[in-house]
Amino acid sequence: MAEPGTRANPLRVAIIGAGPSAFYAADHLLKQEDLNVEIDMFDRLPTPYGLVRAGVAPDHQKIKTVTRAFARTATDPRFRFFGYVEFGRDISLDDIRRYYHQVLFATGAQSDKHMGIPGEGLRGSHPATEFVAWYNGHPDYRDCSFDLSCEQAVIVGVGNVAIDVARILSLTPAELARTDMADHAIAALSASKVRDVYLLGRRGPAQAAFTNPELKELGELAEADVIIRPDEAALDPLSQADLARDGDRALARKVEMIQSYAARPPAGLPRRLHLRFLVSPTELHGDANGHVSSVSLVRNRLTATATGSLVAEPTGETEEIAAGLVLRSVGYRGLPLPGIPFHDRWGVILNAHGRVLDPGTNAPIPGEYVTGWIKRGPTGVIGTNKPDSVETATAMLEDAREGTTFAPGDASCEAIAAFVRGRQPQCVTFDDWRRLDELEVAAGGRAGRPRVKFTSIEDMLRALGR
Ligand SMILES: Cc1cc2nc3c(=O)[nH]c(=O)nc-3n(C[C@H](O)[C@H](O)[C@H](O)COP(=O)(O)OP(=O)(O)OC[C@H]3O[C@@H](n4cnc5c(N)ncnc54)[C@H](O)[C@@H]3O)c2cc1C
Ligand SMILES: NC(=O)c1ccc[n+]([C@@H]2O[C@H](COP(=O)([O-])OP(=O)(O)OC[C@H]3O[C@@H](n4cnc5c(N)ncnc54)[C@H](OP(=O)(O)O)[C@@H]3O)[C@@H](O)[C@H]2O)c1
Repeated sequence: MAEPGTRANPLRVAIIGAGPSAFYAADHLLKQEDLNVEIDMFDRLPTPYGLVRAGVAPDHQKIKTVTRAFARTATDPRFRFFGYVEFGRDISLDDIRRYYHQVLFATGAQSDKHMGIPGEGLRGSHPATEFVAWYNGHPDYRDCSFDLSCEQAVIVGVGNVAIDVARILSLTPAELARTDMADHAIAALSASKVRDVYLLGRRGPAQAAFTNPELKELGELAEADVIIRPDEAALDPLSQADLARDGDRALARKVEMIQSYAARPPAGLPRRLHLRFLVSPTELHGDANGHVSSVSLVRNRLTATATGSLVAEPTGETEEIAAGLVLRSVGYRGLPLPGIPFHDRWGVILNAHGRVLDPGTNAPIPGEYVTGWIKRGPTGVIGTNKPDSVETATAMLEDAREGTTFAPGDASCEAIAAFVRGRQPQCVTFDDWRRLDELEVAAGGRAGRPRVKFTSIEDMLRALGR
């Protein structure tokens, strides 16, 4: 048979995952004029859009409008969505090789990093990943519970996820009620007793990972003062020198904002967000019931490594903060997929510019590709995934044009549909998702909210008449 890519013999691509990186890649693959590509996108959830639905903060609705562009891609007649089909449970690499010319893994980072300190496993100590998935109504996390009966909470890390979590813990019941947060989380957070939230940065203000708009928003909360200690807001000589040399204006603005918050007298609002710098947790302590009750910290100083980056070094000076809730927000982590080479230390699928590599030879494995957070690690905003996915899609197209693909026995769209339904009779199409979307938005309209989310797969299937 002729090389795939014609109308009669399209290049048939399976994409595993339906987050931003998957849609950016699909869009690029479908744009080719000389190559006819047909795409089946699989997600383990019945709902598409990955972290746009399950990560992006519920009070940041504008960001979620990016899904309109993804939905446009999904309307291409050469695109199909198979939701509620999990790679590794319902379909395998051998199955894919039987039906497709290429596979693209876009499964994101489904787990979290650990701090590696004693007490991390105590009750009341959780990864921020779980808290975020719970308040956003991810079906796997709807039954989690977080003890919000304490007055003090600690968030470890000062990235944008930490800022999201701190802000969510500080919203008023009226603000929560205007979001598309899961109903169970609105109820729990509206009754929260948490008054003081401590965000712990192990390095200084000039190394904080959060971005300026998110920091600015923190300073504008209706019911929470931002409190920063002037001594921790001041830059050490090494950071000062870096800032002067690099001339990074956004970073200079960030430091200025931190210092202006530090100089601002608290307005006496009912809640306080304490943004701490140059401190690391060393141990979580528990009460008699094994529930976290406090966190030991050590104060750090910055030192330069051989490559010039500034790292935290403990000084030996310690303190303790009482806390009944600890959320570690020290980064997400990719999970391996069955049969796919994985770089365990980096938490990514082993690859070079999106081509999956054979760990034995370091040569690309024909037909296997990767993009997004599972390709480069858990960093970057939604838009960062676009050039990343274009890079991988370009490699896929180059290889297809050279005839380097799987050799499927039956790549017809009918055979695939029958096979997938055989494995997962409840699989969800893009039209099914549209119906769920309409129902959620309609329920939201009645409640003055952007949407009311389904948070269980059973409820989604029931709503589809299954
Ligand atoms: C809490 C949080 C808030 C964020 N807020 C913002 C923001 O406000 N603005 C912004 O620009 N960026 C934000 N980001 C970053 C942005 O969400 C990511 O850059 C982006 O989602 C990464 O895309 P991805 O496609 O690689 O992964 P994901 O979005 O995680 O998508 C992966 C998809 O793969 C599916 N999947 C996983 N395993 C399997 C399997 N075995 N079989 C089938 N499907 C599978 C998952 O269900 C998921 O749908 C945020 C990130 C987080 C964590
Ligand atoms: N509004 C938005 O645009 C938005 C919202 C959420 C997420 N995102 C994006 O999503 C990506 C992931 O965000 P993220 O917050 O999970 O990751 P991140 O930006 O990498 O931040 C991780 C934070 O954890 C700290 N950390 C790591 N290990 C630690 C340890 N052992 N002890 C103490 N602190 C530790 C890091 O400090 P060091 O710097 O010292 O390592 C850093 O402050 C980012 O690119 C982010 O911008 C964007």
